[in-house]
Order: sequence, then structure tokens, then C-alpha cells
Amino acid sequence: MQNALELRINELLSQMTLGEKVGQLVQISAPRDEAGKERLKSRIRNGNVGSVILAFSATAGNDAQQDTQVEVYNELQRVAVEESRMGIPVLFGRDVIHGHRTVMPIPLASAGSFNPELVEKCYAAVACEAANDGVQWAFSPMVDVCHDPRWGRIIEGPGEDPYLASAMSRAIIRGFQGEDYSEKDRLAACVKHYLGYGASEGGRDYHRTELSDSTIYNLILPPFRAAVDAGVATVMSSFNDINGQPVTSSKKYLTDILRGYLNFRGFVVSDWAALANLRRQGVAETEAQCAAMALKAGVDMDMVDDYYSNHLQALVRSGEVPEALVDNAVRNVLRVKLSKGLFEDPYIHKNGYDRAAHLRMAYELAAESMILLKNDDHTLPLAKHTKIALAGPFKQERRALLGSWVLDGKEEETPHFREALENALQGSEGAVICNGEDITEDAAEKVFAKGDVIVLAFGESHLVSGERHSLADIELTEHQISLARRAHNTGKPVIGVIFCGRPLALQAVEPYLDAILCAWHCGSATAPVAADILLGNLVPNGKAPVTFVKTTGHIPLYYNATPSALANNGYYDQNPEDCYLDIPASPMYPFGYGLSYTDFTCSPIRCEQSTLTLEELKAGEKFTLTVDLQNTGLYDGRETLQLYIRDKVASVMRPMRELKAFQKVSLAAGERRELSFTVGYEQLGFYREDGEYVVEPGGFDIYIGAHCLTRNQIAIQIKPC
Ligand code: BGC
Repeated sequence: MQNALELRINELLSQMTLGEKVGQLVQISAPRDEAGKERLKSRIRNGNVGSVILAFSATAGNDAQQDTQVEVYNELQRVAVEESRMGIPVLFGRDVIHGHRTVMPIPLASAGSFNPELVEKCYAAVACEAANDGVQWAFSPMVDVCHDPRWGRIIEGPGEDPYLASAMSRAIIRGFQGEDYSEKDRLAACVKHYLGYGASEGGRDYHRTELSDSTIYNLILPPFRAAVDAGVATVMSSFNDINGQPVTSSKKYLTDILRGYLNFRGFVVSDWAALANLRRQGVAETEAQCAAMALKAGVDMDMVDDYYSNHLQALVRSGEVPEALVDNAVRNVLRVKLSKGLFEDPYIHKNGYDRAAHLRMAYELAAESMILLKNDDHTLPLAKHTKIALAGPFKQERRALLGSWVLDGKEEETPHFREALENALQGSEGAVICNGEDITEDAAEKVFAKGDVIVLAFGESHLVSGERHSLADIELTEHQISLARRAHNTGKPVIGVIFCGRPLALQAVEPYLDAILCAWHCGSATAPVAADILLGNLVPNGKAPVTFVKTTGHIPLYYNATPSALANNGYYDQNPEDCYLDIPASPMYPFGYGLSYTDFTCSPIRCEQSTLTLEELKAGEKFTLTVDLQNTGLYDGRETLQLYIRDKVASVMRPMRELKAFQKVSLAAGERRELSFTVGYEQLGFYREDGEYVVEPGGFDIYIGAHCLTRNQIAIQIKPC
């Protein structure tokens, strides 16, 4: 029996001409000028537009974009509703990647907060700001698991682990959509890029991928599965090919797996002009072929190519494309428009919001995202009376701190690091000594001479990450390394604050730095949070959502690798000397790692029942693993305990560690708390090549600790029956 929503969809569909149906599948970019606006109005009036993307070029993350124009969108909407024959509203979408006017940390950084509740709260604030400016649909979350930090788009994603990625995927979608995304301050979300884009070879954007079905099901698909289960409204298909088949033309991925296997019910939008790419990728000759291939594969909406509008009607009339396929795609689009409440109230209302509260949330999330990577001899925190000699190319940078993929955040509203340090020192005897301009190393040395400590504002510009902005070398520049060396030679404590969009390779600079704070591009609150961490107003607690390699040549290096054939030669930390001749293969900093100003100790793992049968597990019984976590240091702090499993013997090789749970807790200095984790059927299995989930009996190691290389482990056993 059809429910009311489906009845309404079918009723609308039955009244639509073929042209109007195709119109619903067409997304047009925002008009640049008056003439463009009039052209767009006329297309909307004729029922030829389903959606407008509020951008006018690709790589929107790094190009300057127009500010949102609510009056213009309401005017376009009025034409759709009042002047088109069917009166179907258009849907306005924009890249709301990690913030709107208030910019949150880049998604890679916020994954390192290991705090999905906070991420959800922040994205609800982002949704509210964007909705006020006319956005109804956000092209986010981006959940491409990535093992290659050369890829510029690693900034947009959740890092290298599918479990953490799934948690972030759900959090962002809940933040955007809430319980019901028809509410005015919510957005329809779009999970992307489906599928495999993060595995582009060599980190070269848009490049080929070679992915086994096992890798797809176990590593790449989980955050998309989580998104569908969380009710994500839409999915964006990816540019890349998988094993020689562009995803834009892949029925296997877009229909069989996405709809058949994952049971997705919203609509699929192609990526920017991706239909045209099918010709470049060499699987289609004509525009019409591209349109037919994409629709047959399962792309419901064509983003800005106009291939659907130019060719679909003729393709249906010639019998090349069955009209039933067009109908289905239209159903998917209408389902989202109806669920968004556009038929009840299609217009944008500027209800306002509490900007100061949003900025506080950005501060809170940045405070949980930055990672203290090194802190020899308690160099940090600094006493308030410290005279800080500040140098380095990012000391007075504003725009870079916002990160890539920022369309609506304002550089001029973003404090830079020098002023944030000065603010944090106000009223104390401390001071910042800094030569304003970008200065020579000799001049920097004169600044060094005047400080008690040296702080170096290092990192990379937002322009070397993001779409189409990959790097072949992810190390700091020669200038920064040399500045660090000269700072070190003064004999004073040297602190490196690294503002970056990817986990940079820090081996060359690390020996010169006594403390290293990875401050990422943490958005609007980057500088105040970094300053407050340095001065001890905040205790750092972010953890690495991705491996930090030593040098670029280490890539790919990721924690969730399978064992190597010979004594784990080359795996992460085990026998690292046996792998490369020139450098140990162990990571600079492992996945899950991050220091605090306080110390935590975790007791050995207790497990009352360490054997269960497969039947018992299937019936819902679980292993309970308990530890005591104690804050043994001098500061109140937050720790993220992580639980990893290793399936010791299976029918196929399984990773040496897989994250399966984490808990982030606050402990006052001296406080001790018992923490319990449960591990059951859902945590102990894996997906076979055909997508079937299996748990195989046998032995497992369970690890609980502060990062993926913890040695705190216990064995459990699953008996066959
Ligand atoms: C990107 C997408 C983005 C789209 C619209 C594409 O180039 O790959 O992530 O949502 O443009 O701006």
C-alpha cells in the first residue's frame, strides 16, 4: 500500500508533461547578473529547472563566490510557484562544507575531536545560518575515507578510519537535518562523494581508483551506509572511476548497491559537470550518450551540464531511455522536495540567529580538534608572564585559518594569531614580540633574542588544499625548516604551531621544536583557541583522525592495514627498521594519538566472560570490557579511550587494528573512573566480497588505550557453537 507521500508524488507525476518531468532533474548554477537572472526565470517559468546551485563555478571552495542573495532566490521561487504550470518549487543548494558565516574547523580537524555530539550541535548552528541566507540543501557531509594526505580534499573528510567516519557522517547529517528537515532552520544533507573518490591514485584529484569489493564494503562504504541509515536526503555521485567504470555511469554503485543494498530513498545528484566527464573518461562519445548512461546508472539530477535538459526528451521519444526511468528519478526528487516542506512554504525567511552563541560553538569545537603532538619537558603551557618571540609565515594570516571550502566566512572577522596571543596575555606581564612584516631570517633572529620562548606560526595556506589542490610534497617549506633550526640554535624553548589542512610530514622540523601543536585550519576560532592552548586556558584533547607520516615518501601509511607477509615488515610500528633502508617505517604520530597537559593512565582490561559462542553473539550477547582511567596529572582534562579489535585468523586477511568504539570523558586532576565497552556481533565481523556481513569464530585481540598503538590488550574467543 502506498503511503500519503508516495500518493502525492504519483498524483503530481501523473499531471506532468515529459518536459516538466525532465525539468525536475535539472540543476542550474546561480545567475551572475541581471541578464542571467531573467534567463533563469524564464526557464523556471517553463518548468525546466528543478534546482539551483548557489555558486557559479566549480572548485567553489577556493574561488571567490557571490554572497547569497535571499531576495533573488525568493523572486525565482515565486516564479516557480506562481508562474510555472505545475507550481513545483525549486530547491536551492550550496556547498556548506564546514560552516557558513561562522566557520567551524575543517571536517578533518573536527573528526579529531572524537566528539560527534558536539559536531552535531555545531552543524545545527551552521544549518541555521545557511537557512537564513537562502540555502535549503547542503552538499555535505563529505565522507571519503582517505589514505593519502597529498590529496587536497582530505581536508573535507573524516580521515582514514571507517568507524570514525561513520560517526561523523551521522553527526553532520543529524546536525543539518535534525529530526525533520522540513523545519525552517534545517537543511537537506547530501552525502558525498559516492564512491571511492578518496582513493584517487597518488592523491591526484579526479584520478582513477582501483578498489576491490572487499575494500569498498569494509573501508569505503561504511560512512555512506551510516548516512543512509541516518536518513540522508540526497547523495552526490563522485567524479572518479572504480576499476575502469566512472561512477557517474555505474549502475552497480548508484543503483544496485546504493538503492538495492543500502535501501536509499532520496535522490542522487551528479557532481559538477560530471556527465560531460564521461566523454573525457572515454566511455561516451556524445552528450546524449552521457545523459542516457547517467540516468540509466541512477543519477537523478544533472548538476549544471544541461545534458538532461538538452537530450532526455529525445532519448525517451526514440525509445533509447524508458520513460519509467525518468519517472523514477522525478519521484526521488519530489520525495525530497516534499519532505523539505517546500510545497507548504517554499520561501526563505530571515529569522535571525544568535551569532555569538555560534562563535562560542566554533571555539568549543576548535578546542577539541587541535592536537598537541609533542611537549618535551612540559614546555607548554606557557606562564602568563612569558615574553613570546613570535615569527613564521602564519603569524598574521587570517584567511588561511578559515581553511579551504569557505564561501561565506569573512576573513576580516577572523582574528589572527598575533592578536589572539596579545589578547590572551592582556592584563599580565607577558608580551608578544613580533616584527610585523614577513621578515628575513636574520631579522627573525633579532626577534628571537628578545623572547623567553619562541613561537613559530607555521603551516600551509588554504590554497594548497581543497578541490584540485593536491600536493606532491607535504613537508614544510625550506624557509620554515631553516627558521626552526635558527630558533632552536638560540637554546630557548621553541614551540611550533602548525596551521594546516592536512597532516603535514614533520620529520625535518620536529627535532628543532620542543612542543608542536597541530592547530589545523580550525575556522573562525583558530587563533583564539591556539593562543588559549599555549597559555594554558585550555587543555588540549584532540586526537589524530589520520596518520602523520614522517616524509612524503611514507605515503600511503595508515593504521588499519593488513599484516605483511614477513613479520609484519612495514606495518606501521612493527619492525619498522626492516621496511625502508633509509628511514623507519613507523609513523611520525599514529592514528588516535594526541597529548594533554595532564597524564592519564589506563588499567589493564578486565573481561568477566572472554568466550561466547557464535549463536550467543547472534542472539545479542556481548563481551563487556572494563578499564579504570585515571587522571594522574595536575590538570583537569579530557581523554578519548579507543577500542580496537584484531581478528587473528579469518578466511581473508583482516587489518592489524580496527577502531570499533571510543569514549571521550572529562576527568578532574586525580579523578579515576571505571569505563565499560561492549563488543558484540556488529563489531566483530566484516563484509565479504559480495557484501554479506559475517562473523567468523576464532580468537580476537581487543585493545583499549589512548591511540591505535596501545599495548593494553586482552584476548577473547568466539566458539563455533
Ligand atoms: C565538487 C563537489 C561540490 C560541487 C559543487 C564539485 O566540483 O566536487 O564537492 O559539491 O563541485 O560546488
